Amino acid sequence: MPEHIHLTALHDVLPADAAAWHQVISASMLHDLPDVPPPGPEQIHTQLTQPTLNSHRLTWMATGRDGRPVGVAGLRMFTSPGRDHLAELELHVDPAHRRQGTGSLLLSAVVAACRAENRRSLIVEAAADSPGEAFCEKENFRQALALDHLILHLDRLDASAVLQAAEAEHPGYWLTGWTGTVPDTLAAAFATAKNAMNDMPVGDLDYGTVTWDAARVRTMAQVVADRGDTLLTLAAVHDDGTVAGYTEILLPQGASPRAQQYDTAVVPAHRGHGLGLWVKAAMLRRLHTEHPGVIEIETDCAEDNVHMLAVNHALGFRSYRRTREFQLDVPAS
Ligand SMILES: CC(C)(COP(=O)(O)OP(=O)(O)OC[C@H]1O[C@@H](n2cnc3c(N)ncnc32)[C@H](O)[C@@H]1OP(=O)(O)O)[C@@H](O)C(=O)NCCC(=O)NCCS
Repeated sequence: MPEHIHLTALHDVLPADAAAWHQVISASMLHDLPDVPPPGPEQIHTQLTQPTLNSHRLTWMATGRDGRPVGVAGLRMFTSPGRDHLAELELHVDPAHRRQGTGSLLLSAVVAACRAENRRSLIVEAAADSPGEAFCEKENFRQALALDHLILHLDRLDASAVLQAAEAEHPGYWLTGWTGTVPDTLAAAFATAKNAMNDMPVGDLDYGTVTWDAARVRTMAQVVADRGDTLLTLAAVHDDGTVAGYTEILLPQGASPRAQQYDTAVVPAHRGHGLGLWVKAAMLRRLHTEHPGVIEIETDCAEDNVHMLAVNHALGFRSYRRTREFQLDVPAS
């Protein structure tokens, strides 16, 4: 146990705490994930203080003898039925202060909190072949899912191929898109389609399921808007009114040049018709027109999700890093 490290559970996150978090996370990401732009101070402040969807957060800070921050842990406790057994961890130690037991100390507080809230599964993502992976193995996590992260540089896009895919004929289906909250007329059908994400490959992760309804879809859009981000959706709708497939892109606050791919799903009865490629190509066309400041998109995908990977490759996404999801079956006290 490192005696010189002091651990604090942060109940009210003050701007100074958020700045300290930002300092640790940027140093850690610069060291382990040099290709990933770290979140800005504003994003960190928002992340630590704004409500999340059907979950609450616990946060800890580790400081050294001089009071400087050396490590942080954030724990997202899911609260919706079907996922209330699960907690998701974010853990970083400043590279200058590693291998002194700070990570393990933070993890003990996290595991105690999981026990106190009856969580049976704790999950965390770590870069492949990184200190995070070695740490997880030492701390008895098991590898549950391998993820491929892909990036698409919009300035290197094969524009004519994307346009062709976006404009391809799909008889019986039409495209629609919106920003933020789904239009009322599509809310129920869109919520039904969101449930298609429940069968995305998750390896051995004890990930549970969530049931979407119109209220949950609207709440999600509101949570995203409240933290200053923009959610774009493009959907393929069948003539019978079913939302057959959709894709979502998140534009982080602060005009970041890198957009994040959120869900892409095609509901089972409509698979095999090229709708995944269609909605994603149409989204690229939309980004080009409406958000020319976006120059790259990052997405991640289970390494065995061959259909999604094929769609991504067809659009020009290329692998650029790999991560692993680790899971700890929380030991009983
Ligand atoms: C993972 C991380 C939090 C560990 O922090 P830390 O303070 O160095 O962890 P500890 O000192 O408590 O390490 C505990 C044990 O984990 C293992 N470990 C940690 N880093 C390791 C490394 N780079 N190589 C091999 N083993 C390592 C060792 O067994 C270590 O014990 P030892 O130093 O007595 O040999 C830190 O490396 C980090 O911030 N990484 C980037 C963020 C990340 O990947 N987070 C997700 C994974 S939790």
